[in-house]
Amino acid sequence: MATGNAHKAAEVAQLLDGILEIQTLKDIGCTTDIPETGNTFEANAMQKAVYVFENFNKDCFADDSGLVVDALDGAPGIYSARFAGEPKSDAANNEKLLQLLANESNRKAKFVCVIALIFKGEKHLFEGEVQGTIRNSLSGREGFGYDPLFQPDGYAITFAEMDPAEKNAISHRGRAVAKLIEFLKDELK
Ligand code: IMP
Repeated sequence: MATGNAHKAAEVAQLLDGILEIQTLKDIGCTTDIPETGNTFEANAMQKAVYVFENFNKDCFADDSGLVVDALDGAPGIYSARFAGEPKSDAANNEKLLQLLANESNRKAKFVCVIALIFKGEKHLFEGEVQGTIRNSLSGREGFGYDPLFQPDGYAITFAEMDPAEKNAISHRGRAVAKLIEFLKDELK
């Protein structure tokens, strides 16, 4: 899995437990911050997967994900990790989001995750989304990123108040990984 984000890797490893053993960038000795210069989640996810395939000659998948907020015309979107600038900080990003939405009644948002897979030299894309709302204040200590502000539709708690398995069952990443698993199970049987 082409990621340096330990939280993402842990979420995906939990979903793939008993199905597939994954190596992350650290495991294969890749210490570069892989460039993400695309304009879409799809392009960025594929860029990361292609980088590893070309430089390390390994089948590989990468996820690109982010928060898409209605009232902000889709921001932070592909810029979610560095919304409040460098160095990237979840706390600063959440603070900026709360400030921008301070007088906003439309709190609708979604998380999007695109997984790009290179398998036997072929490229594949899998997508997952989860709809929700942005809270007025932070709640919970689990997860990462915008989790303390994101309340998925149909729940009264944020992602950061869920245990990891509960989040994985409904999250954008969980849904994209489910599609990846379905594809791989078919390919590997
Ligand atoms: P990426 O590493 O370029 O895909 O950046 C993803 C960024 O989107 C993260 O740094 C978080 O800010 C945000 N994000 C993506 N998925 C999640 C999630 O499951 N919970 C909270 N924030 C997320």
